[in-house]
Amino acid sequence: MQNLDKRVALVTGGNRGIGFAIARKLAALGITVLIGARSREQGVKAQERLERDGLDVHCILLDVTDALSIQTAVGRIKDNFRRLDILVNNAGIMIDSKTGIAELSVTIFQNTLETNALGPLLLSQACLPLMKFNNYGRIVNMSSTLGSLTDIASPDSLHAEVQSPAYRLSKAVLNGITVLLASELRGTNILVNSACPGWVRTDMGGDQAPLSPEQGADTSVWLATLPDGGPSGGFFRERQPIPW
Ligand SMILES: NC(=O)c1ccc[n+]([C@@H]2O[C@H](COP(=O)([O-])OP(=O)(O)OC[C@H]3O[C@@H](n4cnc5c(N)ncnc54)[C@H](OP(=O)(O)O)[C@@H]3O)[C@@H](O)[C@H]2O)c1
Repeated sequence: MQNLDKRVALVTGGNRGIGFAIARKLAALGITVLIGARSREQGVKAQERLERDGLDVHCILLDVTDALSIQTAVGRIKDNFRRLDILVNNAGIMIDSKTGIAELSVTIFQNTLETNALGPLLLSQACLPLMKFNNYGRIVNMSSTLGSLTDIASPDSLHAEVQSPAYRLSKAVLNGITVLLASELRGTNILVNSACPGWVRTDMGGDQAPLSPEQGADTSVWLATLPDGGPSGGFFRERQPIPW
């Protein structure tokens, strides 16, 4: 029997990396966590790992680039849980680390935008009716300092040598989605923010990164559990506002 007072969170790309750490932390706070995974096998594995720690987690099949997959997943959430309180748009790809913008291919740009920006928008749109029904929602868009236009434009930036134009632009678009959605939802109890996890040791971040996935999850978990009246329409790293 479902506990009707328990909050429900969906974490996309929750089967590994930072998403898995976010899922673990949210579940440890007593939240029912739905681990979005595009591979059922990987999703079930992640679910079983967290269940062994006594956490209330459920794998849900979700490819954020597939509109039908989004509709099916949100339909299942509505039928099985009747609510969705928290959405963490964490799934992301970086497939252009060795390319400059002058050589960027249309296909790489499109694929990156579909996963990192369009998917989060479509999923947010699909989840909003459930959030509006309860006048409660926390949407966290997992962005990156690499998508900060201030950082991109600064010749003194620590990331001046980093290429990945498709990735950087996709996160800038994701940040734009955060601002537009937050301003449209102003006056409701649905808060929308972007997070940068820092440089984190995952398949994407590599093994030289200074932060563990657990450390990288901190700001997103904080934003996912903001109290009523908390900030909305901001961009945060280490729980502090950073420039767009
Ligand atoms: N690591 C860093 O230093 C760093 C820094 C700044 C921002 N970020 C952001 O943090 C987020 C998580 O990164 P990470 O380092 O944990 O990356 P990761 O280890 O590469 O994990 C990426 C996750 O996204 C999932 N994913 C990719 N495409 C998907 C799709 N179409 N549908 C559903 N899931 C999909 C992957 O699923 P599969 O297992 O099926 O591939 C995986 O679960 C990303 O948005 C990334 O841009 C990371």
